[in-house]
Amino acid sequence: MLSQAGGAARLPCKFLRLPASIRAQAYATATTSTTSPAPSIPPPWRPASILDDWVQREARPISLRQLTFFGRTLTESRLISSANYVRTELPTRLAHRLRNMQTLPYSALTNPHISHVYELYYTAFERLRKVPEITSVDDNDRFCEIVQSTLREHLSVIPRLAMGVIEIQNAISGEECDRFMTTLLRSRISRRVIAEQHLALTETFHAPWHFPNSTKSLTAPEDDFVGEIFLRCNAKEIVEQCAATARNLMSQAYGPDVTIPEVVVKGHLDTTFPYIPSHIEYMIGELLRNSMQAIVERPGTQSPPIEVLICEAAQHVIIRVSDQGGGIERDILPYLWSFAKGPRRQARLENLERVPKLAGTMQELRYADPNLAEEVERTVNSYDSKHRPTSSLTALSGRQPDLRLGMGLPMSRIYAEYWAGTLEIHSLEGYGVDAFLQISKLGNRNEVLSTRAAMDAV
Ligand SMILES: Nc1ncnc2c1ncn2[C@@H]1O[C@H](COP(=O)(O)OP(=O)(O)OP(=O)(O)O)[C@@H](O)[C@H]1O
Ligand SMILES: [Mg+2]
Repeated sequence: MLSQAGGAARLPCKFLRLPASIRAQAYATATTSTTSPAPSIPPPWRPASILDDWVQREARPISLRQLTFFGRTLTESRLISSANYVRTELPTRLAHRLRNMQTLPYSALTNPHISHVYELYYTAFERLRKVPEITSVDDNDRFCEIVQSTLREHLSVIPRLAMGVIEIQNAISGEECDRFMTTLLRSRISRRVIAEQHLALTETFHAPWHFPNSTKSLTAPEDDFVGEIFLRCNAKEIVEQCAATARNLMSQAYGPDVTIPEVVVKGHLDTTFPYIPSHIEYMIGELLRNSMQAIVERPGTQSPPIEVLICEAAQHVIIRVSDQGGGIERDILPYLWSFAKGPRRQARLENLERVPKLAGTMQELRYADPNLAEEVERTVNSYDSKHRPTSSLTALSGRQPDLRLGMGLPMSRIYAEYWAGTLEIHSLEGYGVDAFLQISKLGNRNEVLSTRAAMDAV
């Protein structure tokens, strides 16, 4: 359970079952101060028994390999069982997150940003849990529309959560804020992965080249894709694409007089592995952005190249990004992985207020904004015709470089760990930074889902 910190009172979970007016009264006697200057918004009353039922269910983790084989021979019955997996899995996972949020101190839960997310999650939970069993392709098509619109509605979640955890720090400690944020983001990734994978499989199922009753493996123009998973992600190509995107963005932001560092790729250049392209692009894109910004903003440097080394081992692929941007400033080094702590909290908060929506990956943009499709397609096609349109851009590529949210590294590490990888940063003071991204090559470990006990402990 979260401990009481900063003098804020915690209302027992049962209070959330009471009408708002009674809760407000209870709250008034239980606490002496609120943490946010904005007015507190208590979530509306709802019966807790339905949520209790769903919280009893365990989330069922799935590995990248399982996701791949599931879609490899895509028949109607497989599509329908995938739909039913998603239909029960999404509300189960949402129920766990709602319960997490209910264990926050009352003053934290009524923070406007946190309660906004709580409301979004509750609405989605209610909508999804009511979907009856899917028994036909038509049912599935209707279900996909619900899933798609839910994904779209949830684009405000990341910036709102990020603002929320910065603002509720008087109610819970910085460590607890970070744990809370990490759990919610990890769960968000997992829900989006299973939802987007199913949407992509449905898209495949309806594709003109797909013969739904064939029992053979798919042999399609996009044979290297199974749903959202690209079976042969080529590390070198991905780094080069991300470098092109980041360099482009930097030169637009800093103007023509500034030399943007080159990116040199070395090592095992033929390495491939199965992965969701937008996840790897997101992580590499963030590392390259940081390196480029450090070099460009370092006074008096000659813009030394960034070196990316790819190393393929039996179980892993390691991607090392080395720059000579002077290293990480001492005062922020201890807070590198924190969403909530550190000397730049206020600046982050102000920047986050300028970001109403934040897609974590390129698929999220894809499902969020159909108008982007054309532009994305054009850019992607100019890279590499092998990659599927709309899933081959560095995520968040359009984010302005000066809009620093302090989320690049902690979010990237969550993505890395999600598929059993790691991300480490070594700062060489006064010289530069080495970032080590380790990818689990076989993708055969289950996604790293917190156990029930750990979830309830947040
Ligand atoms: N390669 C690097 N060289 C020097 N400093 C770095 C490097 N990478 C990160 N940093 C420092 O660490 C901070 C945190 O990085 P992080 O990517 O998490 O957030 P950000 O870059 O500030 O914002 P965002 O990534 O959300 O736009 C950066 O602001 C920068 O000061
Ligand atoms: Mg960054």
